[in-house]
Formats: sequence, C-alpha cells, structure tokens
Amino acid sequence: LSRIAYVNGSYVYHLGAMVHVEDRGYQFSDAVYEVVAVLNGKILDLEPHLARLGRSLAGLQIGSPMSNKALSVVLNEVRRLNRLRNGILYFQVSRGVATREHGFPNTEVKPSVVVTAKRLNFDAIKKKQQLGINVITTAETRWARPDIKSVCLLANVLAKAKANKNGATDAWFVDNDGMVTEGTANNAWIIKDNMLITRELSNDILAGITRHTLLSVANDLGMKICERSFSVVEAKGADEAFITSTTNFVMPVVKIDEQKIGDGKVGQVCKKLIKFYWNYLEG
Ligand code: PDD
Repeated sequence: LSRIAYVNGSYVYHLGAMVHVEDRGYQFSDAVYEVVAVLNGKILDLEPHLARLGRSLAGLQIGSPMSNKALSVVLNEVRRLNRLRNGILYFQVSRGVATREHGFPNTEVKPSVVVTAKRLNFDAIKKKQQLGINVITTAETRWARPDIKSVCLLANVLAKAKANKNGATDAWFVDNDGMVTEGTANNAWIIKDNMLITRELSNDILAGITRHTLLSVANDLGMKICERSFSVVEAKGADEAFITSTTNFVMPVVKIDEQKIGDGKVGQVCKKLIKFYWNYLEG
C-alpha cells in the first residue's frame, strides 16, 4: 500500500509530497501544526485539536486556510486513503510561499497545508506503559511562547537527542526558577499523596489535549488535582510521575536524572489512570 499525503489541495504519493523551497515554514519555522491520534479508524478529540490549531494560527497571525469542517474532511480522507486504523495524522499550516524576507509578505500569500499519516502500534505503547520511561532534566531554552504549537522545535529536538544520548526516553525542560515546564513533546505530571500535580496553563507550556482530557477523567474518578508548578527537587521526591501526549497517552516516568521515582516501578495511581484513560478512548 502506497502512503498518501495531502499537499495544498491534492492527495499525492508520500514519496513525491513536496512544498516549495521558499515556504516560510521551511525558512523561518513560520508554521503551526497538530497531531491527532487515530484509534480503531476513528480520529480522537478532533474538535479540541482544531480549536487549538485556530489559536496557534491566530498567535502567528496566519489566516485560516479552510474551515474546520473542510479540514475535518481532508483529515478523514487522508486517514481513509492510507487505510489508517491505528496511528496519527500530522497536519501543518505555514504562512505560505514568498521570497525570503523576514517581514510578513507584502502581497497576499496562501497558507500551505500539509497532512501526513503514520501507523502506530498501540500494543507496543501499552507494553511500554507497564514499564515506564526514564527522563532527564534540561534547561528551558525554547522561545517564550511554547503555548503556540509552532514547528519551531529546535530546542525540543536537541533536548530529545540529549535524553537519548544519556539513555533516557525524554527530557523535561526546567525554567530559571528550577520549575519543570513540560517534556519535549508532552506535558509533565507528578503524584504526591494521591494528588495529581501538573503545571498550570500559561504561555510557558502547550495546553495539551491529553492533559485536558485526563484532568476530566481524573476529576470524574474523584481524584485530588492541583494545577501548579513543581520543581525538579519535588518531582524527584514524588510518589509517581508521568507524561501525557497524543502519541504516549499516559506514560509513567520511573526515573528522573537516574533517580528512581518511588520504588522505580509503575505505581498504582498511574496504573489506574492508564486503565481509565484507555476506557475513555475505547469507550
Ligand atoms: N506534541 N507539550 C508539547 C511541547 C508538545 O509538543 C505536545 C504534543 C504536548 C502534548 O499535547 P497533546 O496532549 O495535545 O498531544 C505537550 C505532539 C504529539 C508532537 O509534537 O508530536
């Protein structure tokens, strides 16, 4: 089966899917993106992802390339053409193609829209959820608006590479006050005395859709929740820790900077959250 992508109005073979060399996404990271999960052939939480795309576009003053309804049609068509049952759809909107000039183009340019599909093995993710992952901590070096889901991800890429080089799966960014902001592509959480703690929303972190959904799942379970910053020191002394994202769902963190969290195994609260989050997704 050949993979199919969507590029500016056409469904094309993935191999030949291309944008122009003067696309502003390519030259300036002048673009935003979203990632949605597809489970059993169904796109999850599409509405909040589209709403966040709208906020990111507004944040960069890029005009909306098409209605949410039209974009939903395109996304579902890419899903269908790729016979994607389990995986993700990636979609990106750049300001468009223009002669390289830092300022916004003087003439009106059409935003570039790209959609790609990728298969994921959710059974492998479920297995990983039983073992948990290790993270390292690293200085927050991103630009000041990580709440905008822009493709300006160089700091994230370097942090992830540093983590991998140090035998860890991911890195948690730490701000100048020693507080954890978030992971390279996920939100960070800790659990202390059965209280779920995750950083409050601000310009400093992405408002994760998984974060939002899990908060409501935890709330329905009657769990104690506190949205506030936590330090690396506090995280290392937590009972449990985990990350959330579209591609990881709820993924336990069992070590931070080589230090075991709790007894270094996936804890009871994480197990419960994983179970109920899958119930929510599959239900
Ligand atoms: N990343 N924080 C950052 C910096 C992210 O890039 C992401 C998602 C999240 C979690 O958001 P959500 O729960 O809506 O996926 C938090 C996607 C998956 C990515 O870049 O591939």
